Amino acid sequence: MTGGGFNTRAIHAGQEPDPATGAVIVPMHLTTTYKQDGVGGLRGGYEYSRSGNPTRDALHAALASLEDGTRGLAFASGLAAEDTLLRTLSRSGDHVVLGGDAYGGTFRLISRVLSQWGLEYTPADLSDPDALRAAMRPTTRVIWCETPSNPLLNVSDIAFLASIAHEAGARLVVDNTFASPYLQRPLSLGADVVVHSTTKYLGGHSDVVGGALVTADAGLGEELAYNHNAMGAVAGPFDAWLVLRSLKTLGVRMDRHCANAARVVEFLLDHPAVASVLYPGLPSHPGHDVAARQMSGFGGMVSFRLRDGEEAALKVCERTQLFTLAESLGGVESLIEHPGRMTHASAAGSPLEVPADLVRLSVGIEDAGDLLADLEQALA
Ligand SMILES: Cc1ncc(COP(=O)(O)O)c(C=O)c1O
Repeated sequence: MTGGGFNTRAIHAGQEPDPATGAVIVPMHLTTTYKQDGVGGLRGGYEYSRSGNPTRDALHAALASLEDGTRGLAFASGLAAEDTLLRTLSRSGDHVVLGGDAYGGTFRLISRVLSQWGLEYTPADLSDPDALRAAMRPTTRVIWCETPSNPLLNVSDIAFLASIAHEAGARLVVDNTFASPYLQRPLSLGADVVVHSTTKYLGGHSDVVGGALVTADAGLGEELAYNHNAMGAVAGPFDAWLVLRSLKTLGVRMDRHCANAARVVEFLLDHPAVASVLYPGLPSHPGHDVAARQMSGFGGMVSFRLRDGEEAALKVCERTQLFTLAESLGGVESLIEHPGRMTHASAAGSPLEVPADLVRLSVGIEDAGDLLADLEQALA
């Protein structure tokens, strides 16, 4: 089933009742191999589960549908998806422009691992057209954008970046982890590939690590699917099943994440210990107009800076009781973290280093009053 609104597709796309039994939920196919009816006599094209698995295929179809793509692929982690993508799109001597505030793990993959194979890179402020143009080289194959970005929640104009990339013969990759396809669909705005850490909102319950790529370009989709199997960083059937199960509630979860985040932002703005609040839903946010144009809601991630610096930021992180001090994001439960010492520690000393007084919240779907009370006691 490919038609219908977002929530209908989240529940049904790729998820027809099982033809063998009528099971309404896609079965978890925990098998490595498939019986052949004579040599090469494959049933439904399945021969080995790295190459193909019906549970993972159902997730592929659902991901493609939700991101307005034609090909979805599920990986063992977000970084596994990124690695396969970058090694498909670039060769030794090629160049990548990435947002100056990309996720630390993405920066580490490019700067520490792929650079050893000759991949060149330039971090740039993607919201500044002059900085972006200055960063481009004749060898640039990829502009890598995360919007909203982790953890500074900067916003980039996807349609503009797509035009710059395509003028230069490069591809635009958008990491859509923070927004999810419920709030933003980059392929419809001109991006060539969408990346997800499905560990986050798509998984939504902090119980699975996974990644995804989606494209609407048939040729690129074929190349990625080839390398998905050839490089082997595929999602296992249990992990694929968990993400598929969670996609069904993505829309209702995102509505609640957005509503709770708006309450948290309102509270933080009025708090004397808080120097600034970073949230694309704020009219004062430099990317607000672009976010309002390309997103249908502003998401559940909120960052803020403390007037009294790093010590104060660390104290808040240690004092919350309902907001759990932990890395990751996008689950139903609220999390708090200190990016400088936790998720983005790998960017220390690099152009992607984050401010020491910054705290990042992943606002969950608990009762908003309880979340505000927890922040109030932690900031007191
Ligand atoms: C925006 C973003 N992209 C990619 C990743 C990497 O995903 P994973 O941890 O699933 O490998 C993360 C992880 O935090 C992330 O926040």
